[in-house]
Amino acid sequence: MGLVGWRGMVGSVLVKRMVDEGDFAHFNPVFFSTSNAGGAAPSLDGVEAETGTLQDAFDVDALAKLPIIVTAQGGGYTSEIYPKLRAAGWQGIWIDAASSLRMEDSSIIVLDPINRDSIDAGLKAGVKEFVGGNCTVSCMLMGLGGLFTRDLVEWGTAMTYQAASGGGAKHMRELLTQFGDIHSAVDSQLADPSAAILDIDRDVLSTQRTGLDTSEFGVPLAGSLIPWIDADLGGGLAKEEWKAGVETNKVLGRGDSLAPGVTSRGERIPFDSLCVRIGALRSHSQALTLKLREDIPVSEIEQIIADGSPWARVVPNEKQPTMDQLTPVAATGGLEIPVGRIRKLEMGPEYISAFTVGDQLLWGAAEPLRRMLLIAIGRL
Ligand code: HSE
Repeated sequence: MGLVGWRGMVGSVLVKRMVDEGDFAHFNPVFFSTSNAGGAAPSLDGVEAETGTLQDAFDVDALAKLPIIVTAQGGGYTSEIYPKLRAAGWQGIWIDAASSLRMEDSSIIVLDPINRDSIDAGLKAGVKEFVGGNCTVSCMLMGLGGLFTRDLVEWGTAMTYQAASGGGAKHMRELLTQFGDIHSAVDSQLADPSAAILDIDRDVLSTQRTGLDTSEFGVPLAGSLIPWIDADLGGGLAKEEWKAGVETNKVLGRGDSLAPGVTSRGERIPFDSLCVRIGALRSHSQALTLKLREDIPVSEIEQIIADGSPWARVVPNEKQPTMDQLTPVAATGGLEIPVGRIRKLEMGPEYISAFTVGDQLLWGAAEPLRRMLLIAIGRL
């Protein structure tokens, strides 16, 4: 099995999860590098690399020797190398974290607790492209998938609160540096209990407007937010919002763009979003409004959500459990997806709210890929 992009943030989390779960007992990994071919392959606990040196990730012949390639190298790499590999006649399985191939009719977006049947049917039909979904979509479906797979959702919206990690490692560093610089600007006033809060506020604002490094996000994020994520697709739509609609439906087997072998589960569910970057570090949150097809009691809705996947965990809709369990700080580093704030809305008995948080790097990125790898070799 070839691994590309294992040193980056998503790749590192993926490799760590594979080491923790003992996955490497089933594979002979060959590590590739885009920048350091010939260097030493990493030494990981319990992992014997097939070759002691890093292979060149742009060497199509070297890649083509492998039955499975997993990449977290990014969309640019996939767009450059994948067509060449197929043109060279490679018949292997390509497992990818990047979005480039997600909406191709030839690919399946992998989230096996929700769409294992599609994955199995695709494998049987000869599908060879398996792509991890957008982090916000995967985390949402891991939490609320039960309502969708039981076809109870007529339409939905997600208002997201996405962490800096969604942008990458540099974005996380920039956010932390901004917090530090803001604090430094008013450090002495904070230490003085008699300092006027409006003076502190003015100095903070001035630092935010003129004194922060914003090279990654473009504008200050610390102490602020950015209500736009990813490219501007025109017509007022951000690419992250487009992804939420099309990918949710593709994972659920609805609408067009389904891979060979995948059974259609019916018409597209209207699902739209407004995506916002906030100053959380690593976990993505979202507030949902769902219109259900029926008036179902809240206790039953909670049960359906809890049964939706072994990782969905319902948080009682009360203040203290919400504060303790339904935050990025509580959810980060864990595979469980808390879902709370579930209640009927004033608009009518079929309208509900919900709030969910998921670790963007686990179910949002690494976990579906490592599980796909095991599925591909019949180990899951
Ligand atoms: N696009 C997501 C974000 C991350 O920027 O938060 C990857 O799915």
